[in-house]
Amino acid sequence: MSHDKKISLIGAGNIGTILAFSISRKRLGNITLVDRVKGLAEGKCLDLSQSLSAENLNTKILGTDDISKIKNSHAIVITAGIPRKPGMSRDDLVETNFSIMKELGNAIKKYSPNAFVICVTNPLDAMVWSLKEITGIDKKMIVGMAGILDSARFKFFLSNELSISTDSIQTMVLGGHGDTMVPLLRFTSISGIPLSEFIKKKRISKDKVDKIISRTRNGGGEIVALMKNSSAFFSPATSAIEMLESYLFDNRRILPCSAYLEGEYNVKDMCVGVPVVISKDGVEEIIELDLQNSERNEFDNSVKAVKELVEKCRKLLA
Ligand code: LAC
Repeated sequence: MSHDKKISLIGAGNIGTILAFSISRKRLGNITLVDRVKGLAEGKCLDLSQSLSAENLNTKILGTDDISKIKNSHAIVITAGIPRKPGMSRDDLVETNFSIMKELGNAIKKYSPNAFVICVTNPLDAMVWSLKEITGIDKKMIVGMAGILDSARFKFFLSNELSISTDSIQTMVLGGHGDTMVPLLRFTSISGIPLSEFIKKKRISKDKVDKIISRTRNGGGEIVALMKNSSAFFSPATSAIEMLESYLFDNRRILPCSAYLEGEYNVKDMCVGVPVVISKDGVEEIIELDLQNSERNEFDNSVKAVKELVEKCRKLLA
């Protein structure tokens, strides 16, 4: 338990709300939920506090529209911004959400420059990069949540198809959190047995695996199309908590996250999804994989898509 830790959640939409609920039940720390809509975070926190009272749990929770209340946070999770509507790509959100990141980035710089920052706002990789630029935070202390979510979707679909528990399946989805994301089959295994063995033994067809890959790539869009006025929230919140816990408890998990690269994977001055070790010091290590030709091409293609958005943000910054 780390009740002394101050965790600030910026954005009291669906993801921020689930985050606050989960963090209170897991007792990860004190919670400050901020939303610029007057009364929204305050109301939600009052309700949440009363739910804790019903369960006889004690967690200090503050709901506010005052961003200065994030002062001296240990960790900050940003979910503020607009989500996409059916038919939109994550990239369509870039201008609107960049302006929100600009405002929040300046507030973080002013009130809580030493926090570990997890960004969830889309288009993910470009928003992480923008926040890093605006806040001036050390590259180890800022990451984006995407790879865990994308890997969880990939694992879920495989689990259904194989009739094997998700906890026996390891998957890895790297690159940008967009239509070009890169689910890596060579690093997908079932209790250490490469997925290729299951394909060889006809336990699952290659065709089926390919369909699962494209469903994974479209996993967020599938949910937006169903719900129409919301994007996914349970799985993004849960995925962000994996990262948060690894930081707060110094778990040193290897997690695919959007991290700032300076030459790793031949990428410079951009944030994209790669496996990293998260410890009490933040992104302690970036794990480089030797990608094979086709993997490399897919990864580079994904990086190219992120680069276009980063260049847009760079112009907006100037
Ligand atoms: C998704 C959004 C949150 O993938 O990016 O569901």
